[in-house]
Amino acid sequence: MLSLRKKSKQHQAPSAAAVALKPITIENFNDAMALERKNTRFVGSAADVLAEGYVFREDSAVYGIYAAETIVGLVLLLEEPRRGYYEFTNLFIADTVQHRGFGTAAVRAVLEKYKKERKADTVKLQVHKLNKYAIRSYEACGFTITGQSKWDENFWVMICALTG
Ligand SMILES: CC(C)(COP(=O)(O)OP(=O)(O)OC[C@H]1O[C@@H](n2cnc3c(N)ncnc32)[C@H](O)[C@@H]1OP(=O)(O)O)[C@@H](O)C(=O)NCCC(=O)NCCS
Repeated sequence: MLSLRKKSKQHQAPSAAAVALKPITIENFNDAMALERKNTRFVGSAADVLAEGYVFREDSAVYGIYAAETIVGLVLLLEEPRRGYYEFTNLFIADTVQHRGFGTAAVRAVLEKYKKERKADTVKLQVHKLNKYAIRSYEACGFTITGQSKWDENFWVMICALTG
C-alpha cells in the first residue's frame, strides 16, 4: 500500500501519467481530509477547499487527483462555464508528493475533462504572481498570462484555449 508520508525513492508515488480525477463523495471524503498541507499560503487546507466546493456546489465540484488509486491532491472545478469560460481554483498536491509531476498532470487531466464536455472553448484561472511553480505548470499545459486580475493586483489571469 502506498504511503503519502514516505518521500524515499522506494516509496515514491506512481507515475504522473496515471493521474485521474474523481469527484469527492462520502466514499473518499476522509481520504481527501487526510491530505497533508502545512503551507497554506496560496491555497487553503483540504477542509477549506471542500468548504468552498460546498458553497459553490450549484455550478462547481471538488475532485480528488488520483495517482494509481491513491489520492494526491484536490482541485475545485467550475462545471458550468461562467461568461464563456471554464475555470478551476484551489488546485493543490499534498506536501509529501509535490514536485513529482502530479500538479502538471492534474492540469492536463482538467483540460481533457473540459475538452470532452466542451461547454466552453476557453479555460481561465488566477494565480498569485509569486507562485512560480504553479505558473510554470500552467504554462507547460498551454496557459498564457493575459494580464493582471481586476480582483487583486497580486494575481495574474491566465487563459488556455481548448483545442483538438
Ligand atoms: C503548484 C502545485 C500544484 C504544483 O504541483 P507539483 O506536483 O508540485 O508540480 P510539478 O511536479 O507538476 O512541477 C511543476 C513545475 O514546478 C517545478 N517545481 C515544483 N515543485 C518544485 C520544487 N520544490 N523545487 C523546484 N521546482 C519545483 C517543477 O520543476 C515544474 O517545472 P518544470 O516543468 O519547469 O520542471 C503544487 O506545488 C502545490 O500544491 N502548491 C501549493 C498550492 C498551490 O500553489 N496551488 C496553485 C494555486 S494557483
